[in-house]
Amino acid sequence: MAALGEGVDLAVDVVVVGAGVAGLVAALDLLDAAPHLSVAVVDKGAAGTTGSTPLAQGGMAVAVGPGDSPALHAADTLRAGDGLGDPVAVRVMAEDGPARLADLVRRGGVFDRLAPDAPGAGWASGADPAALGGSPFALAREGGQTVARSVRTADASGAEISRALLAAARGRTSPAVAPGRITRVQGVACALAQPPADGALPGDVTGVWVLLDAVDGAGLGPDQAGGLALVRARAVLLASGGCGGLYAATTNRDEATADGVALAGRAGAGLLDLEFVQFHPTGLKVATGSAWRLLLTEALRGAGAVLLDAGGRRFMVGRHPDAELAPRHVVTRGILDQPGGAWLDATGLPAEVLAEEFPTVLAGARRHGYDLATEPVPVEPTQHYLVGGVATDLHGATSVPGLWAAGEVASTGVHGANRMAGNSLLQACVFGSRAGRALAARLGPGAPDPRDPAEPAFAAPAPDLDRAALRADLRQAISAGAGAVRTAAGLETAAKALEGAAARLGAAPARDRDGAELASLVAVGRLIVRAALLRAESRGVHWREDHPAPDPAWAGVRLRAQLP
Ligand code: SIN
Repeated sequence: MAALGEGVDLAVDVVVVGAGVAGLVAALDLLDAAPHLSVAVVDKGAAGTTGSTPLAQGGMAVAVGPGDSPALHAADTLRAGDGLGDPVAVRVMAEDGPARLADLVRRGGVFDRLAPDAPGAGWASGADPAALGGSPFALAREGGQTVARSVRTADASGAEISRALLAAARGRTSPAVAPGRITRVQGVACALAQPPADGALPGDVTGVWVLLDAVDGAGLGPDQAGGLALVRARAVLLASGGCGGLYAATTNRDEATADGVALAGRAGAGLLDLEFVQFHPTGLKVATGSAWRLLLTEALRGAGAVLLDAGGRRFMVGRHPDAELAPRHVVTRGILDQPGGAWLDATGLPAEVLAEEFPTVLAGARRHGYDLATEPVPVEPTQHYLVGGVATDLHGATSVPGLWAAGEVASTGVHGANRMAGNSLLQACVFGSRAGRALAARLGPGAPDPRDPAEPAFAAPAPDLDRAALRADLRQAISAGAGAVRTAAGLETAAKALEGAAARLGAAPARDRDGAELASLVAVGRLIVRAALLRAESRGVHWREDHPAPDPAWAGVRLRAQLP
């Protein structure tokens, strides 16, 4: 294969954009089912360093523990979704969960276990202990879960899942495109390729344009790094994560810039539920130079940590029967209602529980000068998850032929108006796998469309534009107007800031990573604000202070968005 670079194409059967749990599960399951196919995975950074998967703490919700069942898992998920969850999608996710967990175990994922005779050890009726690795799981309980349901590896569950999947993917990685192999492309997907169908309208998606950093980890020469390459493919699967880059405080990494939603929207795909942006109730409240905030996992509350107001009183008791373990949007409201702020108090947890089960948060808080073992720590709701996204069916197909989506970037309807804790890793595994297997079944022998798509349009960056300052201003404007609490006036102000940013950036993005990301952030930010303005009610994570209750007229209504 010629080195991928400026003007040199790569041609594969399927290109996956994103290397988190959804993308890797899709790639691996696709190749297991159809070893005649070739795959490229486009990742924004070095393997294992990008995306939200490695940061996930509390675990993956799967109905495998005592007293649990897929039906109970589905009921909890629908309740957390505040009337908007799709019952069919939810049932599929809950029922597929144990098999997808068995896949992770088979691929080497190591999860916390209990001795069979330990207190609390056991299995859900119908679970298959042999497929799931023998001993019962030591499950965490998180918000909205009726019973402990999150399979975990201490508080580094996502890092372990990522490690296992990357190891499995590495075994298939190859610099040359070949059947059954994965070619790793490092760079930013900046546009979908769509040759004209009839000379006028864009046709099926036939690949993706990438601003390159490297291929297979080998640094490209200076002429190629930053160059534009076309990865031709018979199908593109977006698995590129969420939109934390829009917010001034987020648990996401910087590269979560809503690229997949923007790419799909520009290609004409339907987008759904974009007003629903989830805030995790307990981000560590610290002033830092960056937007990233340390997550204090809900599993801490599941283990007994409580929330206190400025007077040291528990304020969630009496607000919801599950108190601190109420669904996330309820706890978020509880915290924001405290005029003097809120603190998470984990000092009642035995020292060995903190050390063994929560080493990540313990060490992370220490780096900010807090000791969870001896003092309550300040917390604030922090942007965490994009609930809506690219509309897909239950196999990941979008409304545009050739374009598929799975994971946080997708909207299957499972989350409704609020995602329940632990369901993000699960839905990424379940729908990533379904997409991979559906593609395997659909793609027989064949080759990518040979027609040349038009190159994406780029503009030179405006010389007087300080893009870092613009990005910071956008984050402030979105956080103020389209944060956890919204009003029409605040949303209008955010909309004006976004219009101003769009005007300054110009019609086409600059031809570099920053330019591509800024264009995505502005495009998706505008859609989020527009949807949030339209939904004049409060439901799930969408809290309109000027319309503080759910409105029956909006029950069951899912807002569809489209980029112009
Ligand atoms: C957490 O550990 O609290 C986050 C888990 C999730 O978002 O599902």
